Amino acid sequence: MFSLDGQAAFVTGAGQGLGAAIALGLAQAGAGVMLADVDAAAAEAVAAGLRDAGHRCIAMALDVRDESAFERSFEAAVQHFGAIDLLVNNAALTPSTSLWDITAGEWDEVMAVNLRGSFFGCRIAGRHMRERGAGRIVNLTSIAGQQASAATGAHYAASKAGLIALTRSFAQALAADGVTVNALAPAAIRSPLLDAMAPERQQALLRGIPLGRFGEAQEVAAAVVYLASAAGAFVTGTTLDLNGGRSMR
Ligand SMILES: NC(=O)c1ccc[n+]([C@@H]2O[C@H](COP(=O)([O-])OP(=O)(O)OC[C@H]3O[C@@H](n4cnc5c(N)ncnc54)[C@H](O)[C@@H]3O)[C@@H](O)[C@H]2O)c1
Repeated sequence: MFSLDGQAAFVTGAGQGLGAAIALGLAQAGAGVMLADVDAAAAEAVAAGLRDAGHRCIAMALDVRDESAFERSFEAAVQHFGAIDLLVNNAALTPSTSLWDITAGEWDEVMAVNLRGSFFGCRIAGRHMRERGAGRIVNLTSIAGQQASAATGAHYAASKAGLIALTRSFAQALAADGVTVNALAPAAIRSPLLDAMAPERQQALLRGIPLGRFGEAQEVAAAVVYLASAAGAFVTGTTLDLNGGRSMR
């Protein structure tokens, strides 16, 4: 039920963090993976490591703000793997600027990467998957898109709330074609940034998490594998929370 043998995935922002962990999780489940990132060297380094471990992976430079570049790299992945079964819209900017200080330029930048880039991805992959009558799209949103977050900016929260709405729009538009579209909303996942936080700040964060620990990147990857696999076939238009119970709805 959870095998992705013979499938191929396209992951944006796969050069580090959750994107790299998701690429690894998908590869371990059997999928070939295209790792796309604006930081081409980072994506290539992750892909090289995955290839060394025996996985089918390639990397490419991609700035998700550029629709035609997105089309070109998606097409390159289709050519390489024969088809793409899964798109993961993971690339994002996560600024923490106070809402009193966000400039128009920074607002536009965050929306262009986090929301518009994901829109391009859903539409490009959606066309490909609609034609094939099958496919999965997973969008990385955040708890910040569901409730206000002191740790990230208002523009980030708005972009992630928009991504939840976008997920539902594409889920509706593609359901009849056998394509599912879902969002993941992680919170407090262990990362270098989190590890570098003062212990008191970490303790304060932990007090708000009923499960009493931070999440792990591989737990986010596992949720992507679930949504991409046969096990997740009846799930569409949903936002799956990965937050240790920090918010329950
Ligand atoms: N880490 C968490 O705890 C957490 C919590 C909630 C949501 N998320 C979401 O998960 C996703 C990954 O988070 P992360 O913490 O790993 O982020 P990160 O900042 O560590 O990595 C983001 C990646 O996206 C790439 N990127 C940035 N702009 C790009 C562009 N224009 N085109 C292509 N690639 C671009 C970066 O080069 C980087 O490799 C994001 O969508 C984020 O909002 C993360």
